[in-house]
Amino acid sequence: MQERNRPGRIVPAPQHFVSTSLQQDIDRHGLDSPRRDFLRKSFLGAAAGIAAAGIGRHALAADGDPAILEAQPWATSLGQPVAARPYGQPSVYEKNLVRRESPGLTRVSAASVAFAPLQGFFGIITPNGLHFERHHQGWQDIDPARHRLMINGLVKAPRVYTMDDLMRLPAVSRMHFIECGANTGMEWGNVAVPTVQYTHGMLSCCEFTGVPLRVLLDDARADQRRGRYLLAEGGDGSSMTRTIPMELADEIIVAWAMNGEMLRPENGYPLRLVVPGVQGVSWVKWLRRLELGDKPWNAKDETIHYVDMMPDGMLRQYTSIQECKSVITTPSGGQQLVGKGFYNISGLAWSGRGRIRRVDVSTDGGRNWRSARLESPVLSKCLTRFNLDWVWDGGPAILQSRAIDDTGYVQPKLAQLRAVRGTRSIYHNNAIQSWQVAQGGEVSNVHVG
Ligand code: MTE
Repeated sequence: MQERNRPGRIVPAPQHFVSTSLQQDIDRHGLDSPRRDFLRKSFLGAAAGIAAAGIGRHALAADGDPAILEAQPWATSLGQPVAARPYGQPSVYEKNLVRRESPGLTRVSAASVAFAPLQGFFGIITPNGLHFERHHQGWQDIDPARHRLMINGLVKAPRVYTMDDLMRLPAVSRMHFIECGANTGMEWGNVAVPTVQYTHGMLSCCEFTGVPLRVLLDDARADQRRGRYLLAEGGDGSSMTRTIPMELADEIIVAWAMNGEMLRPENGYPLRLVVPGVQGVSWVKWLRRLELGDKPWNAKDETIHYVDMMPDGMLRQYTSIQECKSVITTPSGGQQLVGKGFYNISGLAWSGRGRIRRVDVSTDGGRNWRSARLESPVLSKCLTRFNLDWVWDGGPAILQSRAIDDTGYVQPKLAQLRAVRGTRSIYHNNAIQSWQVAQGGEVSNVHVG
């Protein structure tokens, strides 16, 4: 179709472009849909400075275009009845936008990760069916009538709640990001993966609803003086237990819902812990017990796993906060620019310590920076969407984003991070990501100091 090569669009990379073993997994059609085409045209058309950038020149002339001149089948036939699909599904034209596993990353899929397709998201909310998944021993669909939450340890009135008990309590709804501590972990040493889905896709953002932890601790008459650490335990077979310092307690939610509906089984149905700003492993799913104690537990997932390998071979423990980070999601690795001219550079920024204050974007590998527009809402410990107008001159470019949070922390360059952390770590890589745009418009993952 002629439409496919319309200048100014971003289309998936041709087959030959991706040369890694993940080739078959790449979402080749993530941005290649009529709906996005339409949306891109209408929103870009509204943006200031568009005319100056010459975007209008790329729009098809209406003259002779059958798609606008002729009556289409959907305008001349009866549509589907209501409730033909009692639970709504995406359009058939969006079928390639899915979570993807990285073959060979783990020995079995039940103890693996499915990455969220960040390249196809708009705004900041992750659709429930595309939230990333990370399980240590597979997911379960637990009957809520048989699920219980115990509170014990340094409490005067130990409790066991049913789901009905919990859902009668005062609830709150808050928007927060969740990022696995291992997100971007494959990038420590070399350029490992080709697309943003695999570099940054262990990241999602939802509105979570549940009861504040404080309500439950008060109900159980927690020992405020001696109770300094909380142990959270999951009900699955992975023996997932995590120590959480009580300084974080005020923001923690014991949640049953995300994005307005009950949690999905993959994400902990019927109950999970929401620990804003903290790495995903502490967001214990299928939550069954909270124990208050006076010291950290040193559980297996805080001694063997989720520790940072430092250059001297020592392991750094309990580094739970996800530091300030950002990534450009469009254009990003595996995509291709078709024709010079106007593009909307778009991405996500977040900080486990608070709000995003600013995002700078460079198109020349970090020599010059411009501040991006931060789209509202800009919330604490939540994804922030940023956008920047860019007129591509058709030549080579290196796209980077650099986030700054409201503590003043600046997202580090890869070389700065490696100088402190070495290259043998798995966790907490929050370095600036670089996407190289080649002369022909192909976008690929590169490491720039
Ligand atoms: N909780 C239990 N009970 N079992 C698990 O395997 N995985 C953890 C955490 N909570 C896990 C768990 C990890 S490592 C992460 S990153 C997040 O859940 C992932 O949450 P998600 O699958 O909802 O994205």
